Amino acid sequence: MNYWPLLQQTWSGDESGRAGGAKSSAASSAGAPVKPLPKDALVIIPLRNAVVFPGTLSPLTVGRAASVAAAQEAVKNELQAGFLLQRDPQKADVVPSDLYWVGTAGPIVRYITGQEGTHHLVVQGQSRFRILEFLEGWPFLVARVAMVPQPETEGPEVEARFLQLKEQAIEAIGLLPHAPDELAGVVRGIDSPAALADMVANVIDVKNEEKQDILETFDLVRRLDKVIALVSARTEVLKLSKEIGEKTRAHFDERQREHVLREQLRQIQKELGEGEDSSAEIEELKKAIEGAGLPSDVLKHAQRDLKRLQRMGDGGAEYSMLRTYLEWLTELPWKPQPQQPIDLTQARVVLDEDHFGLDKIKRRILEYLAVRKLNPEGKSPILCFVGPPGVGKTSLGQSIARATGRVFQRVALGGVHDEAEIRGHRRTYIGALPGNIIQAMRRAGTTNTVLMLDEIDKTGAGGFHGDPASALLEVLDPEQNHKFRDNYLAVDFDLSRVMFICTANVLDTIPGPLRDRMEIIQLPGYTEQEKIQIARRYLVRRQLQANGLRPEQANLTDSALESIVRDYTREAGVRNLEREIGSSLRHVAVQVAEGKAECVTVDAVDLPSILGPRRFENELALRSGMPGVATGLAWTPVGGDILFIEASKVPGSGRLILTGQLGDVMKESAQAALTLAKTWTSDSLEKVDIHVHVPAGATPKDGPSAGVAMFLALVSLLTGKPVRPDVAMTGEISLRGLVMPIGGVKEKTLAALRAGIPVVMLPRRNEKDLEDVPAEAREKLRFVWLDRIEDAVHYAIGDSGPAHEQTPS
Ligand SMILES: Nc1ncnc2c1ncn2[C@@H]1O[C@H](COP(=O)(O)OP(=O)(O)OP(=O)(O)O)[C@@H](O)[C@H]1O
Ligand SMILES: [Mg+2]
Repeated sequence: MNYWPLLQQTWSGDESGRAGGAKSSAASSAGAPVKPLPKDALVIIPLRNAVVFPGTLSPLTVGRAASVAAAQEAVKNELQAGFLLQRDPQKADVVPSDLYWVGTAGPIVRYITGQEGTHHLVVQGQSRFRILEFLEGWPFLVARVAMVPQPETEGPEVEARFLQLKEQAIEAIGLLPHAPDELAGVVRGIDSPAALADMVANVIDVKNEEKQDILETFDLVRRLDKVIALVSARTEVLKLSKEIGEKTRAHFDERQREHVLREQLRQIQKELGEGEDSSAEIEELKKAIEGAGLPSDVLKHAQRDLKRLQRMGDGGAEYSMLRTYLEWLTELPWKPQPQQPIDLTQARVVLDEDHFGLDKIKRRILEYLAVRKLNPEGKSPILCFVGPPGVGKTSLGQSIARATGRVFQRVALGGVHDEAEIRGHRRTYIGALPGNIIQAMRRAGTTNTVLMLDEIDKTGAGGFHGDPASALLEVLDPEQNHKFRDNYLAVDFDLSRVMFICTANVLDTIPGPLRDRMEIIQLPGYTEQEKIQIARRYLVRRQLQANGLRPEQANLTDSALESIVRDYTREAGVRNLEREIGSSLRHVAVQVAEGKAECVTVDAVDLPSILGPRRFENELALRSGMPGVATGLAWTPVGGDILFIEASKVPGSGRLILTGQLGDVMKESAQAALTLAKTWTSDSLEKVDIHVHVPAGATPKDGPSAGVAMFLALVSLLTGKPVRPDVAMTGEISLRGLVMPIGGVKEKTLAALRAGIPVVMLPRRNEKDLEDVPAEAREKLRFVWLDRIEDAVHYAIGDSGPAHEQTPS
C-alpha cells in the first residue's frame, strides 16, 4: 500500500546541511570504489530526528558526508540501507554508541539532490533489525544485523486491540484539523495489526524517543497497547483543544451577534423616528438633574455624565447604562423635605388604635419619639423589635410611621448573603443596580421615612461575597450614614434623616457590632386572654372586611375564639389565629352569599366541621400519668413550648440511650440527670439500658434547661411512681443536686399557660424574672421554686428521698 501522498510532506532526517561535494544525482556521483559488504551487513544511515517504520514511506534529508556516501553506496548497488535514530540530535560525528541499536531497513526508492547541496531520500521501510556488531573499514557506518520478522500473531487479544486501535485512530483523525479526507479510509483498509500499529506510530505526533520505543517493542500485543495509549492521550489533547477553540468561537459569535442586533435596532429606531428622541431625552434628563436638588459635588458629577451621554449618541449598550444611571440619580430624594413635628398625643392614639396591649412597648416607643422630638438632630438609637413570628413587630413599625407622618418602607434582609444586595454592584458589572437601601429610598421618594430592616438576624454570615453585616453597620451608624456610599451610585447619599427600625426573631444571631447600635425591645408573645382580645378588637374586624362581610352578618362567639386559640393554634403570636378566623369567616361568607342566611353564628362546636379536627388537644392527658414521663418547658425562637420527656427501661448492659434530635448540651445534661437519679433506687441497673426520648417537633433541641425534667422522668421510671400531670418544669441541674437558673422564663411560663398546665416548677434563682411574666400568667399559674432536686421530687412525685444517700453537697 502506498501511503505516500498521505504523509506529512516535511523532510526529516539528517538535514544538518554540512554535505560534502555531492551536487549531482546519485547515479553520477560514484566515488572511489569501496569494498563490498558482507552478506548480513547493511550500510547504516543515522537520523537526527526521524524514526523509520516498516511498511511506511519516509521522506528524509541527509547532509553529513558519511551519510551521503552511505546513501549513494546503497542506491548504486541497489542495497537496503539501515536507518537508526541517534540519541542526541545535536551530535554531528556519531559513533555506534550514539545510536539506538534497533532500526528499520529498506531500499531508497528515490534520491534527489536539491539546490544548496541537500540530498533528499524517499525510503521504503521494510523490516525491523537489530545491530549485531559494527564493522570497520568503510567511509560510512556499516553493521552486521539480524532482521526481526514481522509477528503475525493471531488470537483474540490481538484482534481486540487491533479493532480498538483502528477505532481510536479514526476518531483521532476526525479531530485533526487538517487531516486529508482519505486518511480515515486508509486506516480502515489496513488488515494487519502489526502494519496498523506501525503506520499509526509513524504518523502520530509524539516524541522520537516514544516512536523508537514502539519500534523496539517486538511483542505485538505490547506494541498495540503502547500505540493505543499514545493515541488515546493524543485524542484527549485534541478534544480539549477543539473544545477550547469552539468555546472561543461561540463567545466571539455571541458578541458579534449582539453587535449586529444593536446595529439593526438602531436602524429600526431611526426608521421609526425614535432616534430623534435622544435629544429630547437628554433635554429631559438635564431638567431632571437641575431639579433634583443634588448636592453640588453630585450635581457636577451628573452633569459630566450627561455630557458624556450626549457625545455618545443613542442606541449603544453603554448609552442605555449611563442613562439608567442618571435616572436613578435624579429619582432619589436628595432634597430634605420639611419634617412634620412629632405630636405625642396623636402618636399615642395611633399606637393604641393599631395594637392591643403591649403597654410597656408602646411606652418605650413614645419615649423614643419624645427624645426625637426634643432633639431632632440628635443621634437616637435604632429600635430593634425582637420576638417570635406574628407578635406585631412589622405592624408596630407601620404604626410608628403612621404616628410620625412618615412613609413606611421595608427591606427584607432574610437570606441576604451578598454585601452587594445592600450596597449595590459597581456599574461596570453587567446588569448592575443599586442595593436595596437605595432602592427603598427611591420607592419612598422622601427621607422622611421609617425604613424597616426586617429579619436582621437572618442575614448571612458573609464570606466570599463580602459581609452584609458590615454594610448594615454603615447604614445604621449615625457617624457614617450621612455619607452612605452605594457601589452603583458611587456618590454619597445622606441617610441620617431616615428612621431605621430593625426586627428579629432571635438576638443571638445578630452580629455583635450591629446589636451594639440598637435598642432592643422584646415582644415575648401573648397570653390566651390577650389573644382573644386582639382577635375581638382587631383580627375579626379585619377579616370581616377582607371577606366582604358586614359585622352584623357574622357572629364568632367567645367560646369559638377561645377554642381557636386553644385547640387550633399554639403560637406566641397571632398570625395563625388570624388565618383561622379568616377561614371561619369564609365559611360564613359562602352561606351569606348563597342566601341561606342573613347572619351566621359560629360557635366552638361548629369549628371541627369548618376547621377540621382540633389540632392541640389532650396531649397532656395522653402522655402524662405514667411512670417515666415528665413535662418540660423549652424556649425556641418562635416562643416557648412544652415538651414531654419519656424514659424507659429495657434489658441491656447499663447504657444510656438518647433519641429525638438532641444537641450535645442536652445529651450531657441527660447523663448528669441519670447519675443523680440512680440514687433514688436500690435496684441494680447493670442489666438494663435506660432509654430517654424527647419527642414532639422536629426542631433540634439544645440547652441545659431540661435537666430537671429529665431527672424527674428518670426518677419516676426508677421508682415506678408517675410525675404529677399538672406540673411543667424547667431548670438546669448540677451534679451535686443543685437546681440552676435558666433563661426564657417569660416564654416558658406562657407556654405552660397555653398548654393548660397550672403548676410550673422553676429554679429559685429565677424568682426575680417573675416580674417580666404577664399578670395573667402570674395569676393563673402556681409557681414552685426549686433549690435542690429533692424539692422537685418531693413536690412532683411525692417521694420522701433517695433510696441511699449520695454525697450531699
Ligand atoms: N397587639 C396586637 N394588636 C393588634 N394586632 C396585632 C397585635 N400583634 C400582632 N397583631 C397583628 O398580627 C399580625 C402579624 O403581625 P406582624 O406581621 O407585625 O408580625 P411580626 O412580628 O412582624 O412577625 P414576623 O416575625 O413573622 O415578621 C398583623 O396583622 C398584626 O397587625
Ligand atoms: Mg414581620
